[in-house]
Amino acid sequence: MKPAHLLHSIRILVLLLSALPLSVATAAAQEVVCITCHGAMPGKYGEPVPLWKTSIHAENGVYCHECHGGDPKDAANAMKPERGFKGIPKETAIPETCGRCHVGVLKDYLGSPHGKRLGSGGPTCVTCHGNHAVKKASLELINEKSCTRCHPYERARLMKQAMQETEGEITVLDARIQGLKSHGKPTEEMEQGLFDARNRFHTLFHDVAVERLKSESSAIRKELQLIAAAIDALDQAEQKRKMAGVVAVGGVLLAALLFRLLAKSYHS
Ligand code: HEC
Ligand code: HEC
Ligand code: HEC
Ligand code: HEC
Ligand code: HEC
Repeated sequence: MKPAHLLHSIRILVLLLSALPLSVATAAAQEVVCITCHGAMPGKYGEPVPLWKTSIHAENGVYCHECHGGDPKDAANAMKPERGFKGIPKETAIPETCGRCHVGVLKDYLGSPHGKRLGSGGPTCVTCHGNHAVKKASLELINEKSCTRCHPYERARLMKQAMQETEGEITVLDARIQGLKSHGKPTEEMEQGLFDARNRFHTLFHDVAVERLKSESSAIRKELQLIAAAIDALDQAEQKRKMAGVVAVGGVLLAALLFRLLAKSYHS
């Protein structure tokens, strides 16, 4: 190999080697250009980042571009419309933005008195859940402060009451099943039943139809009663087994005692 060629090869090698750690570093940064850039910005453009970091979305890898569009891997073109950037969703576009992933909720919402008033006084998803710091949903979201922004609390209170009772039953049954499970009891069927009932129960809210909520809750509670009966039966079988155990151990002890007494009287 001519010295010039050798030199050329070495230069290419050096270039390649020096580029290597750089390309690894940019690959990592490329994942999050929205976060890197916005995270360093003051005010309303920076605020979404720390809020989002506390969200269930951050926990599950749902990044900025899932709601705003854009290219999260290319800082120079991240917010180009050609890369799918949509900017801040308009109020009327929020439900479909979220509903791309929460399909069932979107359907219930659109059919509800809330969804029918989208853009004319009805709440959107972010009215109740917030936009960036979205947390795991619970009945805490139904509260006087949030629900009286537009109408009296009475109907909201009725919904919460009906849901809290069912929620309470589900929690109690879950704890009992976990107890039996930790003692090695066969609980698969009950667990499945409770899982299904809980899922159906948690789809009831977005219709905001108080009467339907009440009737469906009572159907779900009938199912919960069946599960409770199955747990009772397992519990009773367990009690009986324990009693039998106590009786058996007692019998053995008694026999041992008798034997010793006999042995003593025999030796004396
Ligand atoms: C290199 C820095 C930088 C990157 C990368 C970047 N942004 Fe921005 N972003 C800005 C600046 C600066 C503004 C405010 C001025 C403007 O609208 O251009 C902004 C504004 C926004 C707005 C508000 C737009 C409006 O209409 O007011 C949203 C939403 C947004 N960015 C989301 C994103 C998303 C999503 C990504 C990643 C796909 C991203 N940004 C990547 C710097 C950046
Ligand atoms: C789950 C969907 C979702 C995710 C994820 C999300 N945003 Fe947003 N963002 C929204 C919605 C919806 C709005 C409009 C807010 C409203 O109307 O209440 C918004 C508004 C904004 C605004 C405008 C704020 C203002 O006050 O004008 C910026 C900037 C922004 N988002 C940046 C980001 C950045 C950066 C990320 C990632 C760290 C991000 N968003 C992640 C849904 C999201
Ligand atoms: C790219 C898909 C995607 C988009 C868009 C999205 N989410 Fe989510 N969301 C998820 C995932 C994934 C989870 C975590 C797993 C789960 O609980 O379903 C989640 C969880 C949630 C939860 C908690 C659910 C629970 O079980 O308690 C709420 C509430 C929620 N999102 C609301 C919203 C709202 C409001 C928007 C729009 C501003 C939105 N999401 C946009 C994917 C998305
Ligand atoms: C009027 C307030 C309100 C509005 C509007 C609203 N939600 Fe909810 N959302 C709630 C409440 C309250 C719960 C908790 C219900 C429960 O615990 O059963 C909830 C639960 C959820 C859950 C978890 C439910 C599950 O199946 O586990 C998701 C996801 C969700 N909402 C997404 C959305 C999306 C997306 C929109 C818009 C299309 C939306 N919500 C609109 C109040 C609201
Ligand atoms: C942004 C305004 C707004 C907020 C916030 C809001 N609602 Fe509503 N709600 C409406 C509108 C508009 C209607 C339809 C007109 C009416 O019935 O008053 C409605 C109707 C209802 C109805 C009646 C449905 C029927 O068929 O009679 C219930 C129940 C309800 N909302 C529950 C809630 C609960 C629970 C919350 C809090 C988690 C809440 N709302 C928060 C605007 C709102």
